[in-house]
Order: sequence, then structure tokens, then C-alpha cells
Amino acid sequence: MYKNVPIIPLAVIGIVVAAITAGQALLIDWLPPADSVEAGRTFTLLWFLFWCSVVFFVIVTSVLIYAVWKWRVKDDDLEDGPPTHGNTTLEVVWTVIPSILLIVVAVYGYIVLERNEAVAADRVEIDVYAQQFMWTYGYPDTGIESGDLVLPVNTQAQLNLRARDVIHDFWVPQFGIKGDAVPGITHTIWITPNKTGTYPVVCAELCGVGHSVMRSKVTVVTEPEYKAWLAKSAAKVKATAAAGAAAAKLENAPGDVAAGQTVFEAKCGGCHAELGKKAGVGPAIVGSKLSTDEIRTQIKNGKGAMPGGLVSGTDLADVVAFVESIK
Ligand code: CUA
Repeated sequence: MYKNVPIIPLAVIGIVVAAITAGQALLIDWLPPADSVEAGRTFTLLWFLFWCSVVFFVIVTSVLIYAVWKWRVKDDDLEDGPPTHGNTTLEVVWTVIPSILLIVVAVYGYIVLERNEAVAADRVEIDVYAQQFMWTYGYPDTGIESGDLVLPVNTQAQLNLRARDVIHDFWVPQFGIKGDAVPGITHTIWITPNKTGTYPVVCAELCGVGHSVMRSKVTVVTEPEYKAWLAKSAAKVKATAAAGAAAAKLENAPGDVAAGQTVFEAKCGGCHAELGKKAGVGPAIVGSKLSTDEIRTQIKNGKGAMPGGLVSGTDLADVVAFVESIK
């Protein structure tokens, strides 16, 4: 039954097609280096699928090329081909082999997914906030908010992805994991980087005009370096909070009206003429209905043409007391 199979020409065509296909497969840099445990598993699965595809591509294409070459109709041949009956053996073979392969691929894919999403007890958890067009990383229980992501090597990181406006997509190509950040929900992904270094974080979801510049970086460091970075960043957060609290305490303290008048003349009188009784460039202050808090906020932040931040600390408390005294 198979003695008519043209083994030699098919083999020659097969070798040529296989060489061309394998060349494409091997010469092109399809994937970045796998620098996370998950990427290692995913990329191996991908290569398995790829080489299965290559094998079947070579078989099908070789038979096709041989058939086109061997049984091409003559130019003047307008006849239908001879009727043929099915080949049961062949049909069973081309049904059973792909079925087995599909089951293998499904099981293998499931195992990879299951392992990649197994949550480790000693993981670090980080909140990732996406917004047009930047990434912010929050470290729970530390108050740290950073524009760059820092991760310890060989430790699973759980990233809680959240979006502040539209849908974004967190992607580090070398980590082999991508995750959508969707407004209103928290989407969790797990990454275990296994090599120190710096990698780009890319937004992989068209999210507006600034989509292409929505980048940040992730630095993978050793465990001691990570601990040191956490401690340093936490100390910085504490210092900033303390400085803010100290400044707020000075600003909110009861001010001195006379001292406030001196500051007012120096800093405010140019626009709010005649001690604020008559309007200069700025509006008159006498008759103002603003509350003390509103006055303080307006001086701090500015309003309209008036710049904020002209006075701060004790000076601010004094000016507020003075303005309060004449309003
Ligand atoms: Cu965010 Cu694209």
C-alpha cells in the first residue's frame, strides 16, 4: 500500500523546508532573556509549541510542494481528476496524533499556569498604580511611594495592579508576565526575578496620547540591598512627614498681628495696596468673607494671578493673624 510513496523526493523537499524553517527559528531573536522563574517556564512552553509547529509545518509543506510539482495538470487538461475513496488508516492517524498532541499541550500549559500562579508564603507585596502616563509603586506598611520599582532577587513579588483612570498594562518583557491594570478592580500578578539588574517597565495597553512614554524601571537587587533600600526609603518618608508636621504646626500656631503687618507690607502690599484696605492689582482684603482656614490655604496655594508659597512657617501664621485682624 505504501510502496508508491515517493520517499526520496519527499525527504529532499522536507530537508530543504526544514533547513529554511529552522534557520528562521534559530537566527531570529524571538524572545528576551528569561530573567524570572515564570519567564523560564513560559518561554520553554513557547519553544515546545514552536518546534511542534515547525515539525508539522515541514511535513504539510513538503507534501504540498511535492503534490504541486508532481501532479500539476497539463495546460490543455480540462478533465476532472479520477474519483478516489477515503483512506481510513491515514484519517485515523491524522486525527489521533494531533489529539494526543493537543492533550499534551493542554496539560503542559495548565501545569505552567498552575506553577506560575502558586503564591509563596514569603512573597513581598507591592501596590502598582497606573495612571496617564506614569507608574507609581507603593510598599504596604511602610508609607513608601516610589516612581521606580525595586524588587529582591529570588523572592516572589506579588504586584497588586490598579488603575487610576483608564486601562493600562504592566509589562516587563524579560519577566515574561503581563497584567492589565483596570479601573475599579485589583488585578494580581506574581513575578520571581532570578537575576539582578535593571529592566524597563512598559505600558502595553494603548491608554492615550502619552502611552508610548509611559515607562518606568524595575531594579532587581540582592536581599540585603533590598532591605537597606526599604529602610532608607522608610526613613525618608518619616523625615518628610515629620518636616511637614513641624511646618504645619508653625503655620497653624496663633500668629502675631504686628509681625504679620511687617510681613504683609513686604510680601503682599505690592498688590493688595494700602494694607489691604484699598485694592491694588489684587482685590481688597477689608470686607473679605474668607474664614481663617481659607485665608491660610489661599496664601499657601495661591489663587488666580496670586502665586502661592510667598510666605511659610511662622511668617504665614503672622500674616494670617494680620489679615484676620483687618478683614
Ligand atoms: Cu498606560 Cu499605555
